[in-house]
Amino acid sequence: MRTLFLKIFLAFWAAVVAALVATIIVTAFFPAQAFIFQAKNYFTFNLATAGKMGAELYEKSGSEALDGFLRQIDTISSFRLHMISAQGEALRGLDLPGDARALALQTIAASGVQFKNLATHPLISIKITSDSGQHYAIMLELPVGLVNYFFSLTPGHLLRLLAALIASGLICFWFARYLTMPIKTLQSAVRKFSQGDLTVRVSKEIGPRQDEIANLGKDFDAMATQIETLMHAHERLLRDVAHELRSPLTRLNVALEISRKHAGPEVKRFIDRIGQEADKLSQLITQVLTLSRLENAEPALQLRPVALEEIVQRVAQDAAFEGQTRQCSVVFTIQQKCVLQMDSNLIRSAIENVVRNALRFAPVGSRVDIVQSVQSTLDQRFAQIIIRDYGPGVAPEALGNLFQPFFRAGHPKDRASGGAGLGLAIAHRAVTMHLGQISAKNSEGGGLSVEILLPLDSSS
Ligand SMILES: Nc1ncnc2c1ncn2[C@@H]1O[C@H](COP(=O)(O)OP(=O)(O)OP(=O)(O)O)[C@@H](O)[C@H]1O
Ligand SMILES: [Mg+2]
Repeated sequence: MRTLFLKIFLAFWAAVVAALVATIIVTAFFPAQAFIFQAKNYFTFNLATAGKMGAELYEKSGSEALDGFLRQIDTISSFRLHMISAQGEALRGLDLPGDARALALQTIAASGVQFKNLATHPLISIKITSDSGQHYAIMLELPVGLVNYFFSLTPGHLLRLLAALIASGLICFWFARYLTMPIKTLQSAVRKFSQGDLTVRVSKEIGPRQDEIANLGKDFDAMATQIETLMHAHERLLRDVAHELRSPLTRLNVALEISRKHAGPEVKRFIDRIGQEADKLSQLITQVLTLSRLENAEPALQLRPVALEEIVQRVAQDAAFEGQTRQCSVVFTIQQKCVLQMDSNLIRSAIENVVRNALRFAPVGSRVDIVQSVQSTLDQRFAQIIIRDYGPGVAPEALGNLFQPFFRAGHPKDRASGGAGLGLAIAHRAVTMHLGQISAKNSEGGGLSVEILLPLDSSS
């Protein structure tokens, strides 16, 4: 998982554990260093005395006598003592630990106490000069390194460590949650907002905290309110303009009819053209008003049980008629019939908009396929209608915007069609008002495939 929650949680916990380890090291190691520092003179004195005696004994009576003498000290101290000659040989007959020889030579060359491997396998060594003038090193080998000693964990230690880990883990978990929960809330609000739910707000959910995240939440709410107001104003303006255009357009049509009666054949051509453009304008106004009505006023749906295939059949027949001019056929396949509660005008207009698009983009001589069937998920059944053409399809990056009002994918045919990019927005609204879904994808063999799913009553 790469979530912010996990990152914060692990980072804080790691920091706490690191602090814990550092504390243990400081408390364990530095007192030991201080102890050694203070005890140094005592060590030195004792080592020097034992060394001097050992050297005399060795010179007088040999290796065995030395070993006997040093073994006595070993037994009472649990340390181990080594005597090493100036040439680096062990005089006691015991094996020397790894670094001992080098340390001994270093001790004899220098003077004073020499330490090695304090942390893991400590060796402490000083130089001895016998009465005969021979130099030796006497070396103390400690059984356990200081680090090993202080870190040899007992069950008590482990329990304390575990308690510290659990306590710090719980606190870090709570803290990471505290930081990331409102971010999650914000994230889901932003997602809903971007999907068109302009009413979403977060301050209530984030609660009474007073930090940067809470401020971010308040700023989000302020922004959302502002955008919602602007969007509503924009929609209202569009609706009002469309509405206001209707009356002059009606008067224009009346005037056109009167002019047509008095015009000669040459002028009639132009009057017909004006008539066509006025029709397009009138269509656009109707679409704007339809969408605006669907989006804002939430009209009560005129629900009644309707056989879906009858509606689709009628749309398919009309489309087939229109398609004749371009030798395009419309093939409607009913895999499963179904009856559902719907506002048939709205659903017909949704299907019609999609089928008209398909027909417009279908290449000359090709066909448009419409398939009706029933799909089931775990807990619901849907009537499914798939409308597929064999045209150019839509660029993948434009697919997500097809159902936005006034969106056009920029196909050359768009310019010629004179459409406004409202058909699919109207279809989307009509389908979602029936709690259904509409989506589009490019088909594998080319062409756009639009799927409409409408929930079925259990009775149908
Ligand atoms: N079957 C299709 N194949 C390719 N592109 C399509 C298809 N259907 C829709 N589009 C693209 O999606 C855009 C939006 O379609 P929509 O139906 O909303 O608007 P329109 O058809 O351009 O205008 P209107 O439907 O308002 O008259 C179209 O402009 C077109 O670019
Ligand atoms: Mg259209």
